[in-house]
Amino acid sequence: MEVIVAKKSGFCFGVKRAVEKVYEQIGSKSPIYTYGPIIHNEEVVNDLAEKGVRVIEGEDALSQVTEGTIIIRSHGVEKRIYDMIEKQGLECVDATCPFVKRIHKIVSDESEKGKQIIIVGNPGHPEVEGIKGWCHNTPNVIETVQEAENFEADEEKQICIVSQTTFNYKKFEDIVEIFKKKYYNVIVANTICNATEERQAEAREIASSVDAMIVIGGKHSSNTRKLYEICSRECEHTYYIQTLDDLHLELPKSIRMLGITAGASTPNNIIEEVQNYVRINF
Ligand code: F3S
Repeated sequence: MEVIVAKKSGFCFGVKRAVEKVYEQIGSKSPIYTYGPIIHNEEVVNDLAEKGVRVIEGEDALSQVTEGTIIIRSHGVEKRIYDMIEKQGLECVDATCPFVKRIHKIVSDESEKGKQIIIVGNPGHPEVEGIKGWCHNTPNVIETVQEAENFEADEEKQICIVSQTTFNYKKFEDIVEIFKKKYYNVIVANTICNATEERQAEAREIASSVDAMIVIGGKHSSNTRKLYEICSRECEHTYYIQTLDDLHLELPKSIRMLGITAGASTPNNIIEEVQNYVRINF
């Protein structure tokens, strides 16, 4: 049986980099903390906990820390969190994804020039919270076309629109269109990262050419569920598993080609384990 593993499965560049930065810190003498779980994957977070890495949940908890290293995860944080870390005399390891950092710089520069910042994204998402915290004036978060229609800006001000990195491109375009129709002074920075879209496109392509498809990822991972949906549409025998332990597959005998993909928070070693298992057992 031939096995095809999606090249763009599992961690994206920014998450991979952040997880590696945490592992690099292990062994240093001072206590190590991540500001929020470094990734939404229980196995990784538990493994790090066993190695002494603790998770800080929020500013109150951070204010209690008196020594050690704080690692900022790929989503990034508000500027005031860096200020707190510095003021408390803590070490900071910044694992913010460079694509998110770029947004921080844009909103900081443009708001300093007096522009009205519009962040297209989910207002509850930590990445959006972080971006808001780099603006020198009050930004607005817009998530829907309806909100864009209802938005009333100061006509005198120039508008600068950025996007949450994982926002849907089509929706972003629709929202930008509304702003452009309503106002003259609009500059747009498309800051959407295409890692998610590329992962989905590759999964779709593989699923359409194989006899069975395995999708690996956490059961609460929305991007894995989306991958499963996409693959199921293309391939009748699509299986959703979390780890190798779930792989009690009764694969149909006729299977000649099998595809594997994984959600954004699935570590490489799990993908490899699954891949080796199916190569040996089927
Ligand atoms: Fe990942 Fe960075 Fe894009 S964290 S999804 S590579 S913005």
